[in-house]
Amino acid sequence: MVEKVTDMESAAERTRKKILEVRRLRKTFNAGKSNELTAVDDISFHVYEGETFGLVGESGCGKSTVGRIILRLYAPTSGDVFFAGENVGQIKDKANLSSFRRRAQIIFQDPYASLDPRMKVKDIIAEGIKLHSLAQTKAEMDSRVNELLALVGLNVSHANRYPHEFSGGQRQRIGIARALAVRPEFIVCDEPISALDVSIQAQVVNLLQELQEERKLTYLFIAHDLSMVKRLSDRIGVMYKGKLVEVGAGDEIYYYGAHPYTESLLSAIPSADPDYGKTHRRVIYRPERDIKSEALALRQISGDHYVYCGEGDVGYYREKIELKKGAAKKTLDRENI
Ligand SMILES: Nc1ncnc2c1ncn2[C@@H]1O[C@H](COP(=O)(O)OP(=O)(O)OP(=O)(O)O)[C@@H](O)[C@H]1O
Ligand SMILES: [Mg+2]
Repeated sequence: MVEKVTDMESAAERTRKKILEVRRLRKTFNAGKSNELTAVDDISFHVYEGETFGLVGESGCGKSTVGRIILRLYAPTSGDVFFAGENVGQIKDKANLSSFRRRAQIIFQDPYASLDPRMKVKDIIAEGIKLHSLAQTKAEMDSRVNELLALVGLNVSHANRYPHEFSGGQRQRIGIARALAVRPEFIVCDEPISALDVSIQAQVVNLLQELQEERKLTYLFIAHDLSMVKRLSDRIGVMYKGKLVEVGAGDEIYYYGAHPYTESLLSAIPSADPDYGKTHRRVIYRPERDIKSEALALRQISGDHYVYCGEGDVGYYREKIELKKGAAKKTLDRENI
């Protein structure tokens, strides 16, 4: 029997190990009060071991809240997070919780606010090592700290300084060293470069990529810039007002993103092409356009490409993506003549 393409791809997907699974996660802040806000609204996705999953969306759409719930820094209102098959919300045992906290780390959005100004760099980096008893002697601890400083491109002489003595890029390197100190497997990188100078951003991104390869890390990389996320991510999830509106392989989303909100994000990416301004039009997303009366959900369009839509819209999105792919092929053919 001939297997359908989508089924074959799903079969390939099934063989990959999921290190993280988020199921129907919801977070409502200030429930029952006048300022009630559902920051995360019934989202589900998974992250494969060793990959970078990029979570992208505009400011306030709930990205950091998702990251914080995954790491058990916030409790969800409902839904579950599974890390390496274990339900994170149900870890009761102190030793298991400590093990989870070691294995899953975070690099924070703001390198200025996330480092304790009263602590020396070496103590910031050593904190986790001490907490998880990963060094037996002071000499071992010092050598671990020095090793980590070198790993993130900082000088050993920096160990005795305080955070305020460093630039933003250097502080973010300290934050990265702190996360790596406990030998994690998974890191939530919460907009780790958005507070940095453009000139420094590439350095920090390269460092994160090198470290991922060297240490076989899995990243959940949060950002609001789709072009940056595309550069780094194997797969991308696009968030809009607490919901995941599209999920797929990085290239698929970047070139053939089909949900109107993804298209609006894509249209906001500047281009180096000098003719770009003449033909390019920014697409403004108007949510009411795609809200239908039928139940909306993240539905499979093809392979691992999912779009938030009604059952009746699946055919429409399939066709839309095929048309986009056809148009891209035609352009390529024309260029190759
Ligand atoms: N502790 C909290 N109490 C109340 N509301 C909160 C809390 N944390 C976040 N929010 C609200 O939830 C929404 C989502 O916030 P979140 O920080 O997750 O967004 P984000 O996508 O990370 O945005 P940004 O790109 O600006 O970092 C926002 O409206 C925010 O004001
Ligand atoms: Mg955030």
